Amino acid sequence: MARRRLVAGNWKMNGLRGSAGEFDRMVEAAPDMPCDLLVCPPATLISTFASRAAGGPLRVGGQDCHAKPSGAHTGDLSAEMLADSGAKAVIIGHSERRADHGESDATVADKAQAAWRAGLAAIICVGETEAERDSGDTLNVLARSLDGSVPETAIAENTVIAYEPVWAIGTGRTPTVEQIDEVHAFLRGRLRDRLGDVQGIGMRILYGGSVKASNAEEIFSVRDVDGALVGGASLKAVDFLGVAAVA
Ligand code: PGA
Repeated sequence: MARRRLVAGNWKMNGLRGSAGEFDRMVEAAPDMPCDLLVCPPATLISTFASRAAGGPLRVGGQDCHAKPSGAHTGDLSAEMLADSGAKAVIIGHSERRADHGESDATVADKAQAAWRAGLAAIICVGETEAERDSGDTLNVLARSLDGSVPETAIAENTVIAYEPVWAIGTGRTPTVEQIDEVHAFLRGRLRDRLGDVQGIGMRILYGGSVKASNAEEIFSVRDVDGALVGGASLKAVDFLGVAAVA
């Protein structure tokens, strides 16, 4: 079966209640888009946004979760809490979490299990730094990170992989289509080896890092690119829908 593309917006630490109008425009346009749509606002907005999107195809997600379902973890949110707020998915292991909070591949794998436990899809991020790319280490780094971050019980129905080169996030720089093709084909092969053909072929692999309306079509032309994880260009409906429209 063909993989349906997913365009997911990562609002990061942006957005207040006043952003609801922008979000409503995304909800309104979602039925006309050729792909699945997900918006991951800050946790403070999940509940409101999920209510506003109810009944339509656009889904709302979280940006991180704790591995445990509850307990003495001040400031943290469990996957169950996100689900209870109306989230259907959660981004796990974003490079900003890995860098700012020291998250290891093992932590990311635990969080993926937590997402599934709560009935959420896990969007698991991997990506090389610029130094790793420059030293020719990209595929080794990605192999290690993918194996460590994606539990072997992952299935296509509840897991999405996002390839996000760290040096392309928020920089306006993107890899060439050849570089994206090389990585996505490699990740596809690795998933098939580890998870078997059915799950490995069925699992969506998103590209993320400076995706915008003007470069989305070229990026989506790459064979194993099944959508995008969009940061900056997901904050405005016109930009986000410009990416989704060509998916
Ligand atoms: P960007 O962020 O689109 O602003 O580069 C992507 C991401 O961090 O998911």
